[in-house]
Formats: sequence, C-alpha cells, structure tokens
Amino acid sequence: MLEKSYEYLKQRLDNFVPDTAIILGSGLGDVINSIQDPLIIPYSDVPFFPTPTVSGHAGKFYIGKLGKHNVICLQGRFHFYEGIDVRMIYEIIRMLKQLGVRRLLVTNAAGSLRMHMPAGSIMLIADHINMSGTNPLIGVCEEPYFPDMSEAYDLDMRNSFMKIAEEERIPVFQGVYMMLTGPNYETPAEVRMLQMFNVEAVGMSTVPEVISAVQLGLKVMGISVISNLATGMDLHKPNHQEVLRQVGRATQKLSLLITKFMEKE
Ligand code: HPA
Repeated sequence: MLEKSYEYLKQRLDNFVPDTAIILGSGLGDVINSIQDPLIIPYSDVPFFPTPTVSGHAGKFYIGKLGKHNVICLQGRFHFYEGIDVRMIYEIIRMLKQLGVRRLLVTNAAGSLRMHMPAGSIMLIADHINMSGTNPLIGVCEEPYFPDMSEAYDLDMRNSFMKIAEEERIPVFQGVYMMLTGPNYETPAEVRMLQMFNVEAVGMSTVPEVISAVQLGLKVMGISVISNLATGMDLHKPNHQEVLRQVGRATQKLSLLITKFMEKE
C-alpha cells in the first residue's frame, strides 16, 4: 500500500538504516532536538504518505543518530478520528519495518484517571485496553493471524526505562492506557465507567500502532504524558490548547529520559 512511500524514503535515507522508530504525540516534538544533524523530510514530500490534520502534529520525519541508535522520528501521528483507516497505521508501521526498524517507541498525551497522577506526570504504559471498536489488523490476513498480546509493551525496555528514571530522579508512573476513538473528550459518566475498568490513563491514539507493531514482531515501548485529569475529576474542562500547554511542561523531562534511554539501550 505504501510501496512508493517506502521507495522514496529508502532512496533519501541512502545507506542509513534506522533501527528505532519514535512516534511523537501531541506537543511532544521536543524529543527531536536531541537528534544530531537530522535529515528532515516533510510527509508532504513523500509520495502517497498521509498528512496529519491536528495542531501539535507537524507532519515531518526527523532521521538521524540518537544515542547509540539510528532513529526515524515521526513528528506528527495519525488518528482514527481524523478519518484515517487504522489499516493505514498498520501500513506505516510495516513500511518502517521494511526500512530496518526493530523497535518502536510511542508517546502520547493522555487524561489521567488517578488523582495522584496529575497533569505533567509521565506514565510508562504497562498494558492497554483497545476500546476503539476497531483493529488495524482487520483485513491484514497475514501470519501471525492471531498475535499474542501478553507482553505488548516489552518488559526489558520498561525495566530499563524505569531504572533510568530512578537514576535521573524523575518520577515515572506505570499503568494501563485505554484508547477511545475521540475526538470528543469523555463525558463525566464515561470517566466514572473508566474508573470502574481500573485504567490509569485514557487517550485517542497509540493502540493501533502498538497492535500493528506486535503483529510485525517489533519491540514496543509506550509513554503517556498526562495533560489533564479526566473530565469531571476536577473543575477544569479538558481542551486541546491546555493539553498542549501541559504536555509542553513535561516535554523536557521526557526528552531527557528518552535520550538517556537511547544512549543505554
Ligand atoms: N481524554 C482523552 N484523550 C486525551 C485526554 C483526555 O482527557 N487528554 C489528552 N488526550
């Protein structure tokens, strides 16, 4: 499906083989500042590659060295709520694998279901619940047809990330992320339901990328930056500008953790 996009990127990358892909969530673009002399390719230059429509998602590849690794960073992700078929998300991950990628690091902005995990917190995703009502593997029909999800988020990478956080004295939570389609924020009644489901964070992305990556045999790490308490948990009403602002506060901490992680692992 993205054969022409692959051919274009392969040619632009020349002999550079990325081993890690990083997908940056809303307002989390800062991570790319740690890449040395990145090759920047706007999505719009890449034939047949889609363009994101949401503010906070620039729509550019940043390609270069980060720590020990050759990375391809996607500043700007695609969401189901943009009307993008989740199958396209699978094709993007497959194209990244074709380019050489073996590990996927995904970040997102999320609402917290826990009073003790306020805006500005960082949460490593331990597991997820796919409440999106769809699945990127529908129609893929390739082995493994029924991928195992018992350790979707690689335990070794998580342990190593938590160790780095401890060394840097940056508090990091671990928890379950639930994806709803959005694009509206939840109602207070929906939030009360999510609390009964015992999840720590809620958002509108990430799960399609992770399911795709697991089916394709990539190792995955996911990080949520908490931008707000979920609707009704305090007096604030969630809105996108506030989400970007709160995420902006945590982006430096997250960049540091990701940079240290890429130097070690
Ligand atoms: N709900 C869903 N998605 C989100 C939220 C939220 O409260 N905050 C940031 N992304």
